[in-house]
Amino acid sequence: MNNIYWNEQLIRKYDLQGPRYTSYPTAMEFDTGFSLDLVAQAAKQSRLAARPLSLYFHIPFCAMLCYYCACNKIVTKRREKAQPYLDLLFQEMAMQSELFGNDRIVEQLHWGGGTPTFLSPAEMRALMAETNKLFRLRTDDQRDYSIEIDPREANPEVLQTLREIGFNRISLGVQDFDPKVQKAVNRVQSEELTLSVLRQSRELGFRSINIDLIYGLPHQTSQSFRETVEKIIDFAPDRLSVFNYAHLPARFMPQKRIADADLPAPDEKLTILHNTIDQLVTTGYQFIGMDHFAKPEDSLAQAQKMGRLHRNFQGYTTHGNCDLIAMGVSSISMLDRVYYQNQYTLETYEDVLQANQLPVIRGVQLNDEDVLRRYVIGQLICNFTLAFESVERRFAISFTEHFQDELTRLEGMARDDLLSLENNRISVKPAGRLLIRAICKVFDQHRLVGQQKFSKII
Ligand SMILES: C[S@@+](CC[C@H](N)C(=O)[O-])C[C@H]1O[C@@H](n2cnc3c(N)ncnc32)[C@H](O)[C@@H]1O
Ligand code: SF4
Repeated sequence: MNNIYWNEQLIRKYDLQGPRYTSYPTAMEFDTGFSLDLVAQAAKQSRLAARPLSLYFHIPFCAMLCYYCACNKIVTKRREKAQPYLDLLFQEMAMQSELFGNDRIVEQLHWGGGTPTFLSPAEMRALMAETNKLFRLRTDDQRDYSIEIDPREANPEVLQTLREIGFNRISLGVQDFDPKVQKAVNRVQSEELTLSVLRQSRELGFRSINIDLIYGLPHQTSQSFRETVEKIIDFAPDRLSVFNYAHLPARFMPQKRIADADLPAPDEKLTILHNTIDQLVTTGYQFIGMDHFAKPEDSLAQAQKMGRLHRNFQGYTTHGNCDLIAMGVSSISMLDRVYYQNQYTLETYEDVLQANQLPVIRGVQLNDEDVLRRYVIGQLICNFTLAFESVERRFAISFTEHFQDELTRLEGMARDDLLSLENNRISVKPAGRLLIRAICKVFDQHRLVGQQKFSKII
């Protein structure tokens, strides 16, 4: 089933810069003047509403540096750095548990990084045991407990440990199989290794296994990346993330080691993306949106089919009813009307915790208009459709009056066949799915602020 249509002319026309809408308002709107009182108030409200929780833990360490990397990470070979970090994390966890309550069911849990498998099996057990002490972890298989894995760090003992302590989903970083590309980005990782980690994970009962790829890396060609994608299709992961390489060497220092001249030209990059989508869709993967693909029977694709998909700082999620409490350096929490981010550096994270304060550096409080627009953008980006009536029922407004300007702007997109505006509904058409960021941006009131700082849509 082809749920996405490639139209190069439209892609070039709408290839504007735009946010990825992992939240609305986006992190660009976070303010360092944000008061901790707002966190306390939001936590109180969150307790009263008794929504289930989603917990995120950021483990920033990596043993090796990948030159392309734009993640918040600390590259070090010194494994002894993990324990002092965990001590700080435990301190923050105790504060968060006190604020949000230890009786709320944790539906979703995620360890991200950096590389969470930088921790030793004993440290991993200790982190999960501490979490279990301070929060109410779900024990049945309805829970969604996931971890990002670097296959170069995942031996059988690590995988076995992760399964034993409660993880049931994993994501493997691969990026590209071409040895020339791997060498240029300093991430040499054999196909055999990736396949063996994938096989072991399946045998251990992990489900919804995801693989990360990146297109646009140095020395990639449409032919070389086609081969990588063919191999990945043979591995048959349940989900795939195909990220666009964001080359911003002024912002991410290690990217200076990647020469501009080695990057595929824009036309070639577009062909790589086009081929990849064709290969995946022809094989039967469903385009979920914004870099993500899933097998039709996977829970992500199923949730999208039922209109129950949501988006948060970790990307698409089936747990939109949860309050997201994020712990660790640089992590971002999302409550009903308040989002906030922790200190970006280990030093400041430590300093603030030592002063017995929540290590928050910046945040944003949503007003009624933000909440309304968040709903509209969320529906479009997750489900590709929005009934005016569903907005009118929730927010007691007339959609056509409130969004008169936006609807006028969408008319141009409707003429270009990106979407239709019939039957009091916005329906994103196959040609608009790839350009969903441009469509959402029409509803973004903050879009004029700092729009040039976002990465390219395609
Ligand atoms: C935290 S890492 C995944 C876990 C582990 N550290 C690893 O690399 O295997 C998150 C993912 O972000 C993606 N990523 C990192 N830097 C990127 C960049 N500059 N542009 C696009 N994607 C990037 C990669 O696909 C990577 O697998
Ligand atoms: S891609 Fe993963 S392993 Fe590589 S530097 Fe980034 S976070 Fe670390």
